[in-house]
Amino acid sequence: MESPFDVLRIAPDADDAEIERAYRERVKEAHPDHGGSADEFQRVRAAYEAAAADALADPADYASEDDPDPAEPDEETYRIEYLNYERLADRGWGLTDADLFEKASMADFPAGDYGRFLADPHETLLEAAEDRGFSWPYACRGGACANCAVAVIDGEMTTPVDHILPEEMTDRGIRLSCVGEPITEDMRVVYNVKHLPELDDLRLPPRPFEGAAVD
Ligand code: FES
Repeated sequence: MESPFDVLRIAPDADDAEIERAYRERVKEAHPDHGGSADEFQRVRAAYEAAAADALADPADYASEDDPDPAEPDEETYRIEYLNYERLADRGWGLTDADLFEKASMADFPAGDYGRFLADPHETLLEAAEDRGFSWPYACRGGACANCAVAVIDGEMTTPVDHILPEEMTDRGIRLSCVGEPITEDMRVVYNVKHLPELDDLRLPPRPFEGAAVD
């Protein structure tokens, strides 16, 4: 099996930041719109998933002289574990299931539906997902609809005051990924919750690009 580090063209002892940088460069080269192919794009993304998962599972693997305490998480990085809301209906799962992400981690979903990525400070969650090659739903990108809504299961993200969500939804952990930035080191979010019936009236008609796949 090929090493994810070879695919990303980095050393096996690369740290989180190096993995992230390499992925951003490689995913651009591999994108079908930039001369790559769908297969190469998936190969690079799978390599990133594997390398990042290794780092999350055992930070000691990435110890270096510059990082004398590898057990300490990188303060400049937010770890996002995500799940596609559409998969919950398929499986009969609910947003309030206590073991939702544990079940998802064992479900063998494709990378577009379940996985992990790292977000940088001051990136909105939507920007972070897009920078890593995902096509999460959105419409206005300004807090005025529910198309980009996510359910925050663990962790927290910023909530600008001028958003459209009613308090009842924010109390349930619903946030807008286009204007909200992760603020806790570890987050679990279910994206694509625009299909919640309570958000029907807040959704804008889908734009043509929303047809782009999430995987
Ligand atoms: S895309 Fe409309 S609020 Fe985020």
